[in-house]
Amino acid sequence: ERILLVAAEGLPFVKSGGLADVIGSLPYEFKKKGYDVRVVLPMYRKIALNWRDKMTHLRSYTVSINYSETPVNLYYYILDGVTFYFIENAGYFEREGLYGYIDDGERFAYYQKAVLEMCNQLDYFPDIMHTHDWHTGMIPAMCKENYNHDPRYRHIKHVYTIHNLAYQGNFPVEMLEPCLGLGHYVFDNGNVRFDGGISFMKSGIVYADKVTTVSPSYAQEIKTPQYGEHLETVLRYREPDLCGIVNGIDINLWNPKTDNLIASNYSLTTYKKGKGKNKTELQKELGLTVDENVMLISVVSRLTWQKGIYLMIEQLFNICSQPIQLVVLGSGEAGLEEKLREAENANKGKVCFYCGYNEALSHKIYAASDLFLMPSLFEPCGISQLISMRYGTLPLVRETGGLRDTVHAYNEYTQEGNGFSFTNYNSNDMMHVLWEAIDVYYNRPDMWKQIVKNAMKTDVSWSTSAEFYLGVFREIAG
Ligand code: ADP
Ligand code: GLC
Repeated sequence: ERILLVAAEGLPFVKSGGLADVIGSLPYEFKKKGYDVRVVLPMYRKIALNWRDKMTHLRSYTVSINYSETPVNLYYYILDGVTFYFIENAGYFEREGLYGYIDDGERFAYYQKAVLEMCNQLDYFPDIMHTHDWHTGMIPAMCKENYNHDPRYRHIKHVYTIHNLAYQGNFPVEMLEPCLGLGHYVFDNGNVRFDGGISFMKSGIVYADKVTTVSPSYAQEIKTPQYGEHLETVLRYREPDLCGIVNGIDINLWNPKTDNLIASNYSLTTYKKGKGKNKTELQKELGLTVDENVMLISVVSRLTWQKGIYLMIEQLFNICSQPIQLVVLGSGEAGLEEKLREAENANKGKVCFYCGYNEALSHKIYAASDLFLMPSLFEPCGISQLISMRYGTLPLVRETGGLRDTVHAYNEYTQEGNGFSFTNYNSNDMMHVLWEAIDVYYNRPDMWKQIVKNAMKTDVSWSTSAEFYLGVFREIAG
């Protein structure tokens, strides 16, 4: 059986968020089970710079965009037995960033067309096409509407995975025919219509044979107006074919025992010493007061409304007056960055805000800190809390989406639970739990140790979830 994953980012080539973690690890689980699995990505500048020399050029062909034949250079690279294809077009993809450009609609229409034509060029037709998020959401529609006469395309089954419903890829209807090659009827009949334009996200939901999202709780939440981003009705309509499968992480990449980006490797038994060493090294590196006994709280996140950073900002004064240190790694909304900068300036040696994206530093932070704060407003799954647990860093989360499914508040009577949590999106509730965590850290070390043990023993691998995906594939592939 052949599985082709189509996405807009994937490790180790390029990453802006958790999607890249998934695309960089899930295919290997399918491969382990004996499937022929391949992945396609756009050739962004960052990939071209670091990897193109190692790649093999496969084909040059064209696809029609805005009535002009637009070139595609197809490359491939085999990494640990999985073939990665790259769609190259300098005009569309050799740019600094990944998304957020004015012509994103055209760029990803081009990408999806180029992927489908790739199948023809290579005479490679997967049994399952596994598409991810809005960037690839038109593929099922294009297969079913544009190529319905061609049995090679018609027989492909489509699984569409929603990683974040908040980013929908909504564009003017005018691009339907010239860019996507789709007739106006798919707008008229409502299949791709959204708010007067077209929505790549909605189209994926409507046309895929199965729709999945990245946690069972989020799969429930998005059927309600509170989380549905105006697509709740469509999602309810697809309910029989919609399910939530929680993400795993690459437990070899994220492994405190072997991670060579951190100062000191450690396991459950050497955790205290190892964390202490990682903490003091990080404190030196970031200009924090060196003290291995102080409780280090961290955030590694895109600084956007989704992540609940506002709750933290509201409580910054209270947080900073505790006997703790705070490290924030991330960038995003200017207002949030500004507040964090102010907090750093007012609390030199105690608070550090590293503005930007830095993978190596993220490893050091996960390894060095005691508590990871993730009070998200909504969270389809979340990867950071899984990494934290693997490093014995206790997550403090809001009970939403995947956070609710993966982090369980500690219960001192049963000694079960791997972190701390609160229910309502309210900064006082968050602060309450944070105080509790600080109290446990300083005054009840045995209890802290027990929670760390539970966290480090939590199965954050893909093994169970990969089986669920294969189950979904089997249901439709017959
Ligand atoms: P999302 O995909 O919504 O941003 P996730 O928790 O699923 O959230 O995934 C975030 C991933 O990106 C994690 O692997 C996290 O470590 C990483 N990450 C987020 N911000 C940064 C940053 N500023 N520097 C390095 N890694 C980051
Ligand atoms: C999205 C979500 C995040 C999820 C990730 C990978 O970026 O915001 O919750 O973990 O996708 O599925």
